[in-house]
Amino acid sequence: MRKPIIAGNWKLNKTPHEAILLADELKRELVDTTGVDIVVCPPFVDLTDVSDALVDHDIAVGAQNVFWEDAGAFTGEISAPMLKDLGVKYVIIGHSERRQYFYETNETVNKRLRAALKHGLTPIVCVGENLAQRESNKTFDVVKDHCEGSLSGLTKDEIQKIVLAYEPVWAIGTGKTATPQQAQEVHIFIRQLLGKLFDDEIAGSVRIQYGGSVTPDNIVSLMAQADIDGALVGGASLKAPSFAAIVKGAKK
Ligand code: 13P
Repeated sequence: MRKPIIAGNWKLNKTPHEAILLADELKRELVDTTGVDIVVCPPFVDLTDVSDALVDHDIAVGAQNVFWEDAGAFTGEISAPMLKDLGVKYVIIGHSERRQYFYETNETVNKRLRAALKHGLTPIVCVGENLAQRESNKTFDVVKDHCEGSLSGLTKDEIQKIVLAYEPVWAIGTGKTATPQQAQEVHIFIRQLLGKLFDDEIAGSVRIQYGGSVTPDNIVSLMAQADIDGALVGGASLKAPSFAAIVKGAKK
């Protein structure tokens, strides 16, 4: 039985002051946290304040990226040991916005993933096709390429420590969510691929989130799908009531 996991990706939103207010509000909204793992991923500069605000609460804190080296002359980067030291538990890796705007590739995603695992952070690895790729029937090819490239060389032990997120780029921030059936067919495809790359038992244990215009209105029908184990939420995670409603809707 896979425990549902809902993560909020705050992207480039919330100053430290605003982040503390949102974290405090989330604590009030999410009193009962049983049956679902809850994660918030603020910008780097908010991580200390949000970790402090949530220290006595079950909401875990994640980062939105991590560099692959531990330390050294890499101006502007943030390493896994730095995140660990702040109490960060999760890290989003390979989000489509990083692939699109910051030249992230499967190779760099794989390096970041290994660094995260080495230091005991739980990676949330994002995969997904854009609109042109979907319209030219390349969805499965792209998702396969993202999974195989990003997860390359992982051991059976390591793959069980990650969370995958299927995020069709055309559904991100557009209000155009994938239908539950469209999402499910990619989720089952990913799970079968994991079965081939690792084994069926492991494939059955890895959690796969859906991301792309998830709201309180569509979470229940998405979670009703057999292979959807949670959501990676952008816009609707920026307001405590809508994020809390999504968390509640995710309890299968
Ligand atoms: P939206 O929920 O705003 O579509 O964003 C999804 C996303 O990119 C989460 O990582």
